Amino acid sequence: MKIVTALPEMRTARRALPAPLGFVPTMGYLHAGHVSLVQTARAACVRVVASIFVNPTQFGPNEDLAKYPRDLPRDLAMLDTAGVDLVWTPTVEVMYPPSFQTWVEVDGLTRRLEGEVRPRHFRGVTTVVAKLFNAVGPDKAYFGQKDAQQAAVIRRMTKDLDFPIEIIVCPTLREADGLAMSSRNIYLNSEERQAATVLFRALSAAKASYDSGERGAEKLRALVRETVAAEPLARLQYVSCTDYDTLEELETLRGKALLSMAVFIGPTRLIDNFVIG
Ligand SMILES: Nc1ncnc2c1ncn2[C@@H]1O[C@H](COP(=O)(O)OP(=O)(O)OP(=O)(O)O)[C@@H](O)[C@H]1O
Ligand SMILES: [Mg+2]
Repeated sequence: MKIVTALPEMRTARRALPAPLGFVPTMGYLHAGHVSLVQTARAACVRVVASIFVNPTQFGPNEDLAKYPRDLPRDLAMLDTAGVDLVWTPTVEVMYPPSFQTWVEVDGLTRRLEGEVRPRHFRGVTTVVAKLFNAVGPDKAYFGQKDAQQAAVIRRMTKDLDFPIEIIVCPTLREADGLAMSSRNIYLNSEERQAATVLFRALSAAKASYDSGERGAEKLRALVRETVAAEPLARLQYVSCTDYDTLEELETLRGKALLSMAVFIGPTRLIDNFVIG
C-alpha cells in the first residue's frame, strides 16, 4: 500500500493505477463502517484509493475539531489489511494554502436538517470532496448511508458539476445493540454508550409503527421524540421525516422516506437514520 501526502505525489501515484478506480474518503479514526466501504469498492474496482483528512472547514466554531480522534498508524494498518492500494493523507496546508478562497456550495438540499443546525458544514464537505475528486479522479466513490444528507448533497454536486464519477451509498454498519458505528462514539463513557442506543431504539419504534400501517409523518416523529425523552442522558436536536430524494418534510408517507435524527448524548452529538418504504 502506497501512502502519499503532497498533491503532486498523489497525482503521479494516481496515474499509475488502472481503471476502474474506487475511492473512499474518510476523516480517519477508522471503524468497521469505513472498512465495509473499502470492501464494497474492492469488489467492484481494480484499484482502491482511500483518503484520510480531518477537514477543518466542515466543523463549526464550537464543534470538536481540536479533539477529533486521530490514530494514523492504526488507520493505515486497517486500510492495508482491507486491501487499499493508495492512501492520500493531505495536510491542512496541502488542502487549504493561505491564499485559498474558493468554495463549492450546494444550495437547496443543504438548507435543512444537518445544514440548518450546522451552518457552513456542507460547504466544507462539498469543497473538500470536490478537491479530493479532482486529485484522485476515481470512477466510483463510496459513501455511508449513516450520513444520508451528505450522500444526497454529494450526489447533487457530482451531477451539477459534471464529475464523471458514480456515487455509491453503502448501508450503515451497526454495533450489536444497534448503535451506528461512528468515529465519535469514542467520546462516550460507559453510561453514555448505553444511552446512545436510544437513536436506534427510537428509529426502530417508528419503523415498527410504519410496518403496522402508520403513514402519518408526524406520528412517526412523535414516536422518536417520546423515545428520546424517556432517556435521561439524551437530548433530541431534531427529528425529521422527509421524502428520500428531495429531503422535503412529509405529512403522509407514500414512496421512499428518510427518517433522520440528531441527538446529544451528554456533550456528544450523534446522528442516525432509517430509510422507510
Ligand atoms: N456506520 C457506518 N457505516 C457505513 N458507513 C459509514 C459509517 N459511519 C461512517 N460511514 C461513512 O464513512 C465515510 C467517512 O466518514 P467519517 O470519516 O466522517 O466517519 P464517521 O464515523 O462518520 O465519523 P464521525 O461520526 O465522527 O463523523 C462517510 O462516507 C460516512 O458516511
Ligand atoms: Mg462522519
